[in-house]
Amino acid sequence: MALVPIAQLLQEAEKGNYAVGAFNANNMEIVQAIMEAAQREKSPVIMQASQGAIKYAGLEFISAMVKVASEVSGVPIALHLDHGTSFEQVIRCIGSGFSSVMFDGSKLPLEENIEITNRVLEVARPLGVSVEAELGKIGGTEDDIFVSDREAVYTDPEEARYFVEKTGVDCLAIAIGTAHGQYKGEPRLDFDRLETIYNLVKIPIVLHGSSGVPDDQIKRAISLGVRKVNIDTNIREAFVERARKVMVDNPDEIDPRKILGPAREAGIEIIREKIRLFGSSGQA
Ligand code: G3H
Ligand code: 13P
Ligand code: ZN
Repeated sequence: MALVPIAQLLQEAEKGNYAVGAFNANNMEIVQAIMEAAQREKSPVIMQASQGAIKYAGLEFISAMVKVASEVSGVPIALHLDHGTSFEQVIRCIGSGFSSVMFDGSKLPLEENIEITNRVLEVARPLGVSVEAELGKIGGTEDDIFVSDREAVYTDPEEARYFVEKTGVDCLAIAIGTAHGQYKGEPRLDFDRLETIYNLVKIPIVLHGSSGVPDDQIKRAISLGVRKVNIDTNIREAFVERARKVMVDNPDEIDPRKILGPAREAGIEIIREKIRLFGSSGQA
């Protein structure tokens, strides 16, 4: 099966009231783990390449691996650019066969974010490539946010409405209290803000930094319009913990396959759990 644009997956998710998992693909074993989990759950899935993954594995390698996964898997797979940094990078990814891209202009002034997002859309639309944008600041977990500062960093609903009206993006990543990486305490999402934004924009909402968000909050976010849930850290934890255990239990092991194979199995397990939580099992 050819790669599928995320707009198609998210429209189906909208109809069925579930979300599609967007899992960060960093190496071959993780690409295979995401594919295998999607196959076993009969679920659509999004494989996404972060800035770190592109630096580590190389754009062409990630693109080739995910294309092979989509050809052999028998389930719908999208290849997505995660937090695209520039118009030029987005174009490189589209040229390399990505079926969707994120242009993250959240650090730019609003009008500049709109302008570059529109240039991305001009190229992407005729090719059937979907576009995700971001508004608000989804920080790292190290960025402690005081309640009084929330208005400054969380997505402003009126700004979201204006942005979507001026661009027509396929989906929007918003800041409502999640952060990338491991949380120090328990995150508490701003559901009122999510509901207000969704009612104003009426397009699929993307939740970044979803690793470590309690299951009940993920479910509630999905019930309020989140259709793409990004998970990276939870896969890293499961993968590395298992590899570490194998190495501690077998200090003389020198075959990387005997270490990375079990790590891949741990990846499959956690990704299957997430797919079930998001409600996309059986939707392929
Ligand atoms: O967007 C956040 C991802 O978890 C990526 O991080 O650039 O270190 O791969 P990375
Ligand atoms: P986590 O690593 O916190 O799951 O975030 C992933 C993400 O948002 C990728 O864009
Ligand atoms: Zn993210």
